[in-house]
Amino acid sequence: MTILGIETSCDDTAVAVLDISPDEITVRANVVSSQVTIHAPHGGVVPNLAAREHEKNLGHVLELTLQEAKMSEIDLIAVTRGPGLAPALWVGLNFAKALAKEFQKPIIGVNHMEGHIYSNWLKPVGENSKSEIRNPEFPILNLIVSGGHTELVLMRDHSKYELIGETKDDAVGEAFDKIARLLGLGYPGGPLLEELAAGGNSSRYPLPRPMLHSKDFNFSYAGLKTAALYLLRDLEKDGPSPRPGQYHISDQQKSDIASSFQKAAIEPLVQKTIRAAREFKVNAVYLSGGVSANKSLREGLEHAAKEIGLAYSQPLLEYTGDNAAMIALAGYFNYQRFGATELETLEADANLKW
Ligand code: KG4
Ligand code: ZN
Repeated sequence: MTILGIETSCDDTAVAVLDISPDEITVRANVVSSQVTIHAPHGGVVPNLAAREHEKNLGHVLELTLQEAKMSEIDLIAVTRGPGLAPALWVGLNFAKALAKEFQKPIIGVNHMEGHIYSNWLKPVGENSKSEIRNPEFPILNLIVSGGHTELVLMRDHSKYELIGETKDDAVGEAFDKIARLLGLGYPGGPLLEELAAGGNSSRYPLPRPMLHSKDFNFSYAGLKTAALYLLRDLEKDGPSPRPGQYHISDQQKSDIASSFQKAAIEPLVQKTIRAAREFKVNAVYLSGGVSANKSLREGLEHAAKEIGLAYSQPLLEYTGDNAAMIALAGYFNYQRFGATELETLEADANLKW
């Protein structure tokens, strides 16, 4: 079965083609057109600008993807229907619906977060994977960390999910982006902050780990963000009103703040995931979402999961960010379980839940 995936929930215009046979999955093409340079001057994603760019680029990205996949026949269209930015989601959804109508193909709406989970099973473009995916090690505990979400999701089977913890305020990726901005780094700040942190001393500045010891499996990042802001203010020598990138602190201090922040942000993720893994007696821990590109998080969680004898998985780096291959794969399993979505009832839902 050949599946066309379409993803436009945020600032990446993404289209992919996936081939699934009874025991193999192959990504035929995976094209992502990033809008980062458009949004960077605004310090964050502007929803209407994102929608306009998706409109402009989708046709071309589809063409490129089909060329690269060397395929013209598809059997199913999978499209992200939420959560995400409403204007951006609608562009992808309407595009997918028009294709489904014109070519008389079944369509399925996919939860973006579910897509991130499935990114764990994707192999490099063109590489066949004898798929362990048909009999994975359920139950799996998923830590999904992105710019908009920080969630612990228990997966007992394909397409069966239970949300067991989430952030009560900011998402961890959002916190990375905000601190990066305060330190005068570019946008998106996560990868830049990680780079800066590499040369720093993570124990130099004590920063809080909110909710680390709470009995539930929730997270909080607003307090850590504020603490980092106050720390910067205290360290600043000239002038009382800080503006992004205008702190008069040394480069070493900046690195040490980045490193101390990164450690404080990751510790609750690892500790709570492991505690939940024990409590729910899972067989495996899977990491996903944009922040799963972070090396300290990857290494920290892998080490902690393996230490208690659990299987561990993380997406290949090329699939940590938003892409349409993950949407196509999640769409396939939803289609197996629930069948196609009715074209007329398919709508975007910016706040789609599990
Ligand atoms: O999943 P994603 O691409 O888009 C959303 O659905 O939100 O996640 C983007 C987020 C951004 O906040 C970005 O700064 C963060 O992932 N991110 C990172 C790293 N790479 C991306 N955060 C920390 N370390 C990284 N290496
Ligand atoms: Zn995402």
